[in-house]
Amino acid sequence: MLNNKPIGIFDSGYGGLTVFRSIIQQLPGYDYIYLGDTARAPYGNRSFQSIHQYTWECVQWLFNAGCPLVILACNTASAKALRTIQQKDLQNVDPSKRVLGVIRPTAEVIGNYTKTKEIGVLGTKGTVQSGSYLIEIGNFAPDVKVYQQACPLWVPLIENGEHDKPGADYFVKKYLDEILAQSANIDTLLLACTHYPLLQQKISSYLPGHIQVISQGDIVAKSLVDYLLRHPEMESKLTKNSTQQFFTTTDDTADFDHYAEIFFSGPVKSAFADVKC
Ligand code: DGL
Repeated sequence: MLNNKPIGIFDSGYGGLTVFRSIIQQLPGYDYIYLGDTARAPYGNRSFQSIHQYTWECVQWLFNAGCPLVILACNTASAKALRTIQQKDLQNVDPSKRVLGVIRPTAEVIGNYTKTKEIGVLGTKGTVQSGSYLIEIGNFAPDVKVYQQACPLWVPLIENGEHDKPGADYFVKKYLDEILAQSANIDTLLLACTHYPLLQQKISSYLPGHIQVISQGDIVAKSLVDYLLRHPEMESKLTKNSTQQFFTTTDDTADFDHYAEIFFSGPVKSAFADVKC
């Protein structure tokens, strides 16, 4: 195990497990380490500085665990930390390592889903305020009009296991009403937070039939498949023993496992990670 070169998957908490699930389905042979910074989640309302510092600490922890490639399976971290990590931090530590996010792969294809050319992006406050989706979708699909809505209460509801309880309905409807009030032509809603797929059923139940809801797991996984095909120098470094390890920054790993299994739709047995550099 010591010589393993796994793919690292990072999220502020549990949401990245929805992406991890899709990645394993499309790339089952590789070794993986998942790290959830649950002790400091949610990231969504935190400052740029904190999100960068926490994300970079976790990425370095994954590097030290042997990962040559790390996926930020978190929109907030992708929006607020990825650019600095790619353009500055990696150069100082190890330019041969790679860190990829979830926003660009999503922006590359989201234009294919809409007929009206109007989409709504639902995300955390941090993701929405960063304007990253406006910029990236503008690059890949300039004919698509993008509306955004921050949904700051969705992550706490999900992280506390309330997403499928009746109390969640009020806040699901509230943010959907707010985004749909921005335009009557939106036909596609993007769940631009890796936690939100857990609310997908409730979200769909409040939408008219012509509005489709898109989550990112399969999009990000497909993009990783393409990345590895285009980068044999990285692909050949990665070990392929089909192992999956889970780590959390919370010392109560049993609590992590309980919630993680809901996101992952499978058994999770985690260990504690002390990520502070
Ligand atoms: N999973 C994160 C995302 O995709 C959000 C969770 C958080 O706020 O920490 O944005």
